[in-house]
Amino acid sequence: MNFIGRFAVVFALNFFLSGEAICQDVRWNEIENGIWKASVGEPEDISLLKAADIQPKKEALQRLPKADFPLLKSDIKAEVIDGKTYLRFPLSREEQLFGLGLNFKTVHQRGRIMQLHVDHYGGKDDGRTHAPVPFYVSSKGYGVLIDAARYVTVYAGTGVRVDAKDKPIVRDRNTDKNWNSRPYSDAVEILVPTTGTDIYVYGGNSPMEAVQRYNLYNGGGYIPPKWGLGFTQRVPTLYSQDDIIKEAEEFELHDFPLDFIGVEPGWHSMSYPCTFEWDTTRFPQPEKFNSDLMAMGIRTNLWLNPYISPVGSLYPKIKPLSGSHTVWNGIVPDLMLPEARKILKTHFLENHLNIGVSGYKIDEVDGYDFWVWPDVAKFPSGYSGEQMRQVYGLLIQDMTAKWFREKNQRTYGLVRASNAGASSMPYVIYNDYYSHKDFITALINSSFIGVLWTPEVRASKTAEEWLRRMQSVCFSPMAMLNAWADGTKPWTFPEVETAVRDVANLRMQLLPYIYSTFSQYRFEGLPPFRAMNLVDGFSFDATVTEGALDSTDNPYKVAVKSEIKDQYMMGDNILVAPMFAGENERKVILPAGKWYDFYDGTYVGENEIISVTPGLEKIPLFVKDGGIIPMRPVQRQAPRPDEKVDLILRHYGESEGSFVLYDDDGVSFDFEKGAYSKVDIIVKKDKKGSLKGTISKPEKGKPFGYNKKVNWEFMTK
Ligand code: GAL
Repeated sequence: MNFIGRFAVVFALNFFLSGEAICQDVRWNEIENGIWKASVGEPEDISLLKAADIQPKKEALQRLPKADFPLLKSDIKAEVIDGKTYLRFPLSREEQLFGLGLNFKTVHQRGRIMQLHVDHYGGKDDGRTHAPVPFYVSSKGYGVLIDAARYVTVYAGTGVRVDAKDKPIVRDRNTDKNWNSRPYSDAVEILVPTTGTDIYVYGGNSPMEAVQRYNLYNGGGYIPPKWGLGFTQRVPTLYSQDDIIKEAEEFELHDFPLDFIGVEPGWHSMSYPCTFEWDTTRFPQPEKFNSDLMAMGIRTNLWLNPYISPVGSLYPKIKPLSGSHTVWNGIVPDLMLPEARKILKTHFLENHLNIGVSGYKIDEVDGYDFWVWPDVAKFPSGYSGEQMRQVYGLLIQDMTAKWFREKNQRTYGLVRASNAGASSMPYVIYNDYYSHKDFITALINSSFIGVLWTPEVRASKTAEEWLRRMQSVCFSPMAMLNAWADGTKPWTFPEVETAVRDVANLRMQLLPYIYSTFSQYRFEGLPPFRAMNLVDGFSFDATVTEGALDSTDNPYKVAVKSEIKDQYMMGDNILVAPMFAGENERKVILPAGKWYDFYDGTYVGENEIISVTPGLEKIPLFVKDGGIIPMRPVQRQAPRPDEKVDLILRHYGESEGSFVLYDDDGVSFDFEKGAYSKVDIIVKKDKKGSLKGTISKPEKGKPFGYNKKVNWEFMTK
């Protein structure tokens, strides 16, 4: 090496080691009512929100109250060092943090360190998960998003800076029993491994309002087609079209709800890698298969992973447009390339959508590291393996969602990887992990980060476990039994068959309420299934119990946080407190205001912790005072667009109340052009003080699938 060469190397090394810091002046622009954006350093031209192709709901954002910038701007710091972006946001005492990805074990995230990385959930809340959304919500009523398609590391109130404003007390471990191994930190610090990023701050008067802004900015939530909210069964891998038709008939015989069927890998002529072509032995007439099911009112949802088999017709077309590495010997289409998307669209439309397929289950886009491309992979679009890993789930959701939207047909499917910006995607996340309790915690956490999650049921060791799981899944965004491996049916445990049918029927009865709740997601950004921490009047959550100092289990005396991670709200009025196998009794924390038993309308308490022993047949459900629950009679399937059903209007408690019942055709996007009804259901006290209900008329010419006659049920006597 000559002198100049050596000089260049030494200079580069010095620069690298010293890491020249470039302090960034963080300039905040209010881009929507109560949403501020700042660009730090040089943001990349790929980001999470760009991959999700978000379309902010500006009018709905305007309707939210005004909000002030929630933090002291001078306390937000940004630096770019060695090609990495260092960010810092202030925290105050008592402030709690939520979000930071689809976590399964914890709801509170203050005090955690996470590297947010798209992955299959591996049993630890360390940032590796199906939707590692770099967004946190504060109990003080604001949210922060780091819009970077990178493995972002978040120190959520863990690192203690020498120049901290609010310093921890220095204690002597020898003598002070209040010594703590994790001294107080007054900041969230974030490392983004690239030269810059866009950051967003969402203001609010409550944590929920910050979440609403986040969801509305991302396009508002999704309203599934009505059939998507009915029951769905996924059949075993090698089922043929005849087996599936028989399965649908069996559901009829057992008088069990069924709106769509999931067809697992066996429909492809080869899978892992996949051909996306029908296997002609198992599915000789795919079009007839779809129309026969449709004649029974049942839709089809096809399983896939995006790794294309060399034996399929797509392979030669996609080969030049795919990444450098294979996954299960399949090539990985570069979804950043419009040309690749176009080829896939033509194939999928011709072979699936145009012959009646109603949706997809998009598997294996999350990882497990071995089962996805490595970070050293290259893609023809020029994006890196890391960037593609963070956005692939979003790209494939966006691509497929647009195919259905162009047909003016709503879809509803499943996906195993997502990220920030997904609120308006027609997909629910699922996985192979199977802890019932952790599934409920994931459902709670999904509400902070604009994604949907289903605690799917697969198999169970006992009838009790089976029933308990079935009860929970019926109170989730997708009521699904996934029998791909073991062929379980809802009636697999005959001793609880009736109770399983009852809870599935109850879900079907609640469709008017659930559908209206999803309309709130779309129009107001309110998540349909909600953490208690997003609910007004809920204040039981900040208890911290100190662990005892102990030479083996707790040598550094780590504080143990007790948190509420097993109950949630479905919509505004129903509190759901699932039961788990082996438990006859559970505690339920009731927020402020009076609460009533869903089943019989009796008063259960207010602003307190109650114990319930509901028996095996029931999942504990409670309704807020004045809560109105619109229901319909038991029916096996969701209503068709032209169908009119009876309306049952339940009222709970002693207070007056109101509810906005939403309806549309249930299948298309015409509601976006105004083809929907919102009617006001109002319960008021008359002069004598007794409760009387009224319902407004739907606007003429707008879809409204309910009969005129309304059955009122005042549940609290
Ligand atoms: C898994 C997926 C399961 C099932 C299976 C089929 O990856 O999580 O739900 O679809 O693939 O092979």
